[in-house]
Amino acid sequence: MSLQPHGGVLVQTYKPNESLENIEKEIQLDAIALSDLELIGIGAYSPLDGFLAREDYENVVQNMRLSSGTVWSIPITLPVADETVANLTIGEKAKLTFNGEVYGIIEINDIYTPDKNVEARLVYGTDDLNHPGVKKLHDRPNTYVGGKTVLVKKSEKQFPAYTFEPKETRAIFEENGWKTIVGFQTRNPVHRAHEYIQKVALETVDGLFLNPLVGETKSDDIPANIRMESYEVLLDQYYPKERVQLGVFLAAMRYAGPREAIFHALVRKNYGCTHFIVGRDHAGVGDYYGTYDAQKIFENFTPEEIGITPMKFEHSFYCTACEGMATTKTCPHDASSRIILSGTKVREMLRNGEIPPSTFSRKEVIEVLIRGLRQKTHS
Ligand code: ADX
Repeated sequence: MSLQPHGGVLVQTYKPNESLENIEKEIQLDAIALSDLELIGIGAYSPLDGFLAREDYENVVQNMRLSSGTVWSIPITLPVADETVANLTIGEKAKLTFNGEVYGIIEINDIYTPDKNVEARLVYGTDDLNHPGVKKLHDRPNTYVGGKTVLVKKSEKQFPAYTFEPKETRAIFEENGWKTIVGFQTRNPVHRAHEYIQKVALETVDGLFLNPLVGETKSDDIPANIRMESYEVLLDQYYPKERVQLGVFLAAMRYAGPREAIFHALVRKNYGCTHFIVGRDHAGVGDYYGTYDAQKIFENFTPEEIGITPMKFEHSFYCTACEGMATTKTCPHDASSRIILSGTKVREMLRNGEIPPSTFSRKEVIEVLIRGLRQKTHS
């Protein structure tokens, strides 16, 4: 298994000294576009070198490929407000700003109106506005601007000690002597089920890259700062330090289930992972996706086209009859023996200061969550 980035090279476009002189036009970014600009700039989205122009966009939406044929499943787009678009011309450059500061430059090579209903149906599998990804898609402006970008400034980091670029994680993995590395995406605290599948995976590879997403999430997901503290206490007490690296993933959550699983895997390949965990309902929300759709979608591609090995896990839980963690693949008992709590139920318990059983989540993690959520409500 090789550590080649997706498409063969890490496409990095960070140029802090790039001149802004003579660039008069300006496009204001939202938080999602800002994180995408940076992720393109540091090579996390290789082989992308900017926001998608129409041809690539349509190929990604329709076929999960760039026009070059390279697999890519989530359209990375720059939606721009009508009043700004009216001022823009193909062939020009524009500054990309956030809160008045310039973070990048785009060389505009396309301005187009996407069919968002098609994008919703094909990327998210639904056009239901109750789906948080579809809602966000429609809330953003209706015209997309495509073109190569340069990153001139990196954003202020919320978790500087845990923020690494792909070239840095690659160096860390190499220094650690890890040849095989499994990446783990999460937008949640690490509960026993997550810990179980991570450790089962770690039995067969050299290292674990715990890579929680800390970009924009829906409002009822647990905030990233509280989650980060919970990861720290857990790693400190229950994981071997020499086999685990914690690092944040700056992207926004799309909740696109299967399509996002492919995207998550490709990005982790760019960070240097050889393997990627895809469990039950990966990147799912509500009941829009089948429990294992995010695993099945990998069958549409050859292993060479993806270039990172998905490690697929069935629904995991603590079973009182087995007296241990298990999955639907390894446990013969019925639901009455299985400790399974929905995310909504757990959030409700935490808000009420109730402690979910240690067979669901370790006590140290729960303590952090209760304290964190209490402070959040009172602040
Ligand atoms: S996600 O939206 O970031 O995918 P989450 O943080 O819940 O959500 O899941 C992280 C990873 O763990 C995903 O690959 C998901 O499929 C997997 N996962 C979560 N809970 C379970 C479980 N009980 N059993 C098996 N896999 C799980």
